[in-house]
Amino acid sequence: MPYSQRDIHVYPTSQALLEAAAQHLLDHARQAIETRNSFTIALAGGSTPKGLYAMLAAPPFRSQLDWTKIRFFWGDERHVPPDHADSNYRMAHEALLSRVPISMTHVHRVPSELPDAQTVADQYEAVLRKQFDVSEPDIPRFDFILLGMGPDGHIASLFPGTRAVHETNRLVAAPWVERLQASRITFTPVLLNHARQVTFLISGDAKAQTLYDVLEGPFQPGVLPAQIIGPRAGALTWFLDQEAAGALTFLQR
Ligand code: 6PG
Repeated sequence: MPYSQRDIHVYPTSQALLEAAAQHLLDHARQAIETRNSFTIALAGGSTPKGLYAMLAAPPFRSQLDWTKIRFFWGDERHVPPDHADSNYRMAHEALLSRVPISMTHVHRVPSELPDAQTVADQYEAVLRKQFDVSEPDIPRFDFILLGMGPDGHIASLFPGTRAVHETNRLVAAPWVERLQASRITFTPVLLNHARQVTFLISGDAKAQTLYDVLEGPFQPGVLPAQIIGPRAGALTWFLDQEAAGALTFLQR
């Protein structure tokens, strides 16, 4: 896609990035609640999203949302219990969900305590279909999916070299990630690319070269899974800080 058509926002600092991303998410939430009386969001793990959650849980953002209308899901999860230090659910609960007046019946975490990863994925896919009241072959449509990106170009838990990057049927997969020597549970591109809004939140110079490869290099999603994201009938927005955007040539014109 030519750069002129990409929706890319760059901010001088990570603080400015998080403030802008919080306002962006707030705007989408309020629009969805006004239109459909509900806002369905898939949260991401990682330190950058954690900073966003903490910002949303504090003034001025905290009071600007009807938290009871938001339905929370996770775009990926580690194969650990929900109270484990590595749990994305635990991170979001500590940074956000425990600090705002949500309705706990609207929190749909991945059942990652189950011993078999594929069973976790199967059960979460069933939860999604039930919560969105959507049966096969239709696909649940999230209002908002937040994604981070790792230095290797992974998004959610779609890692380079894994088959899940190329999944065309399932909504949720349970890839074994060799580099981590662990299973993960993750939305597949089928679900990710069906959302109304997908927003990347990427900070730090450790991602600059990868982001250049993703946005300006050849299309090779097996190597750079971030490239698989292209919502069919939705918007894709990139929120970057200057460090992460440092290698992008089209910004230097
Ligand atoms: C996870 C995340 C993962 C994360 C990226 C970016 O479970 O680890 O979902 O995809 O978003 O690794 O993480 P940072 O923002 O901490 O670099």
